[in-house]
Amino acid sequence: MYIVFEGIDGAGKSTQINLLKEWLEANGFRVETLIEPTDSEVGKLIREILQRPDATSDRVQKTLGLLFAADRMFIMDKLEDKSKIFISDRSFISSLAYQEPAEWIEVLNRYAKKPDLLILLDLDVKKSVARTSGGDTFENEEFLTGVKENYLNLAENYEHQIIDANNGVNKVSSDIKKAVAPYLGICPDCIL
Ligand code: TYD
Repeated sequence: MYIVFEGIDGAGKSTQINLLKEWLEANGFRVETLIEPTDSEVGKLIREILQRPDATSDRVQKTLGLLFAADRMFIMDKLEDKSKIFISDRSFISSLAYQEPAEWIEVLNRYAKKPDLLILLDLDVKKSVARTSGGDTFENEEFLTGVKENYLNLAENYEHQIIDANNGVNKVSSDIKKAVAPYLGICPDCIL
């Protein structure tokens, strides 16, 4: 199973992925986590480009769209392993939310695997800006307002669960467990 976490910057994806992983392992599942951008050569280049002051400009966004698509091809083979649950911090759905135009991004990501379950951590933009260090150029209010809206529209195209990420870590974590449990046949009473 391929579970993808998405959300605007600061939504708490990495914390929640780790908590979900621990819980699934306690329930006897084999779990592997993935992160995009990856730690490949392309992923490293992406992280450098994200620091540029003009990262939201059209030209740099197009470059990033190409690089993100290339970077994620490195992890696609792994996902064929049916013995594990893969939980990924971002996917091609990030590219659809952050880059444009959508038709072009879709073509670039033709070979990217669709998630079996999309967990969208929905956070208020003001909270996002307050939580992030502002180090990446994407972490600004106007840009993220558009990204948040894109996510809510995109979610409709996939099997998805929208989680209110404005709550505390424990509440968000238990909401995620409740959302994931039915897909894995875990009994509701087993949710800690
Ligand atoms: P993120 O996981 O939020 O990194 P950090 O650890 O710095 O919080 O991802 C880095 C940024 O890359 C984030 O602003 C979202 C952006 N991004 C895209 O714009 N398109 C993509 O396809 C992906 C995977 C990420």
